[in-house]
Amino acid sequence: MDSIEITRPDDWHVHLRDGDLLARVLPYTAGRFGRAVVMPNLDPPVIRVEDALRYRARILSLLPEDSAFEPLMTLYLSDETTAAEIEAAARSSRIVALKFYPQGATTHSARGLRDLADHHRLLEAIERSGLPLLVHGETTAPDCDVFDRERRFLEETLAPLVGDFQGLRVVFEHITTAEAAAFVSEAASRVAATITPQHLLLNRNALFEGGFRPHHYCVPVLKRERDRRALVSVATSGDPSFFLGTDSAPHPRGAKQSACGCAGIFNAPIAIEAYAEAFRRAGAMDRLEAFASHHGPAFYGLPRNADRIRLERRDGPGPTRDGDGAESLEIFWAGEKLTYHVADPCRK
Ligand code: NCD
Ligand code: ZN
Repeated sequence: MDSIEITRPDDWHVHLRDGDLLARVLPYTAGRFGRAVVMPNLDPPVIRVEDALRYRARILSLLPEDSAFEPLMTLYLSDETTAAEIEAAARSSRIVALKFYPQGATTHSARGLRDLADHHRLLEAIERSGLPLLVHGETTAPDCDVFDRERRFLEETLAPLVGDFQGLRVVFEHITTAEAAAFVSEAASRVAATITPQHLLLNRNALFEGGFRPHHYCVPVLKRERDRRALVSVATSGDPSFFLGTDSAPHPRGAKQSACGCAGIFNAPIAIEAYAEAFRRAGAMDRLEAFASHHGPAFYGLPRNADRIRLERRDGPGPTRDGDGAESLEIFWAGEKLTYHVADPCRK
């Protein structure tokens, strides 16, 4: 297969940031993906509908005039979020989902909710609204081992929640464990999951290969090989509950290579290529299109993109970084083998 064509993919989980960083990273996502679900963990976070609409306007103002890229906005659930705000979000065609960050779990999560289970009224409003609840699924209990955070959140919080709110639509974001993969496979179709390219390609050994590798650090952190294999298995299974979400999360090199380095992997420039590499290795190139371009829109009740992209077969590494020095953004999978590359028309 010298090249394959697929419906243009969407990214159902991305951090586009704001200000100068937004201007730098947006072209990578907007040039390749049709739409992207834009995470609300700015500082301050995107809590109200009007915050999301203003953020959307800042994104649109940076796109070329002929760009067809569509940012799909989300709201950050905080103690200030009211049922009325959820209803307003549901009325806005610009807002597609609500994001739950456990307080303290990740970048800019200080204003997240401490425990979802304490917010019954809010959850009822979310269930009524029909908007998907996007879940960063990790417990922050200090006694919990970092590598068990997702599993424990699933057992203690997510599984009971899905049982208690039978109408709630949930995306278990960036899943990393065999247990999460199994849970979503077995759950009703109102429960879905996104999977990142790094969790399909790497296990936790990559964090310590020849020394500590801060550019492989993201949350939820990479897990064991058995988990990686389980993720590849569900991503390539054709099950519509699993779809593409890069979790591309840029931090300048100075913030990553630090005594207390930020979590986040910047993969937007080669995300499609990296997913293709994972699918090729699994012998499942014929399933890539469904995962990347069909399942997400179906879950969100949106049409598939009308145009297509071409992936050319050409062995060679992807780009290394964007920019120089402490401000550079190190790109995931730099120097590693990629077999398929997005060909023109690429809209960057
Ligand atoms: C994300 C970020 O930096 O915004 N970091 C990450 O490691 N994935 C936040 C998140 O999605 O947890
Ligand atoms: Zn994220």
